[in-house]
Amino acid sequence: MSHTTPDDATTTRTALVVVAHPRRDSLTAHIAELAAQRLTAAGYRIDLLDLHAENFDPRMNAADLPEWGNREKTYSPEVENHMRRILAADVIVAVFPVYWVQVPAILKGWIDRVWNYGFAYGRSKPRLAGKRMLWLGLAGAADDDGVVDIMQQSLGMQLNDGIAYYCGLAESSVGLLPGAEEKRQRVDADGNLLLDEALTGSIRDAHYAALEDRAQRFVDDFLARDRVPA
Ligand SMILES: Cc1cc2nc3c(=O)[nH]c(=O)nc-3n(C[C@H](O)[C@H](O)[C@H](O)COP(=O)(O)O)c2cc1C
Repeated sequence: MSHTTPDDATTTRTALVVVAHPRRDSLTAHIAELAAQRLTAAGYRIDLLDLHAENFDPRMNAADLPEWGNREKTYSPEVENHMRRILAADVIVAVFPVYWVQVPAILKGWIDRVWNYGFAYGRSKPRLAGKRMLWLGLAGAADDDGVVDIMQQSLGMQLNDGIAYYCGLAESSVGLLPGAEEKRQRVDADGNLLLDEALTGSIRDAHYAALEDRAQRFVDDFLARDRVPA
């Protein structure tokens, strides 16, 4: 279906929005929907990849193990299909809950199996070269918990430096969204988990409105950077 959009220059662009959460009514899914709306308004066609809904199997298997002597290997039909979706995308936006300061296993498995040798890396000009990527990670830790800085650095190293740079992406950034839990939580210097009462009423509404705003700003800034002439 074709779109009527405000920006003719971007009408044919595609955004692959990857969601990694088992519940469709999760905050993560909601933020993914907001991101998709923002991208649509900017003229992108959305390819929504809900990894759980599509029953993506994150376990590496023999068919998808790289063959180091064969960059032209044909991978499993499932993985080849995901590769086609990535190739068709100009930008990729992954939305996920932070699990143990990392992406959840289903998203990690998508990277392991699909961003494979000969496709995402292992070529002088990788197939993903020039694409741009935004990682939106929701985290339970409160904004002022010291662990948020550590999480930002760690995710930045893994996702921007470890994966995107290695695959020749033109840009990769991590938008971290702390405060995703209803009960404000942080860990003190002795390792005690401190849990506040659950947010309620207008305080709760304001808290989540601020988180949504931050998410939309990450998407808007990501889009704005694309328009800056090189
Ligand atoms: C297995 C697991 C590991 C988690 N690890 C972290 C973590 O390392 N740091 C953090 O801030 N929150 C962590 N959380 C909290 C989640 O990030 C948080 O529940 C989620 O972002 C809330 O979004 P949702 O309502 O869409 O699930 C973890 C949650 C689970 C279930």
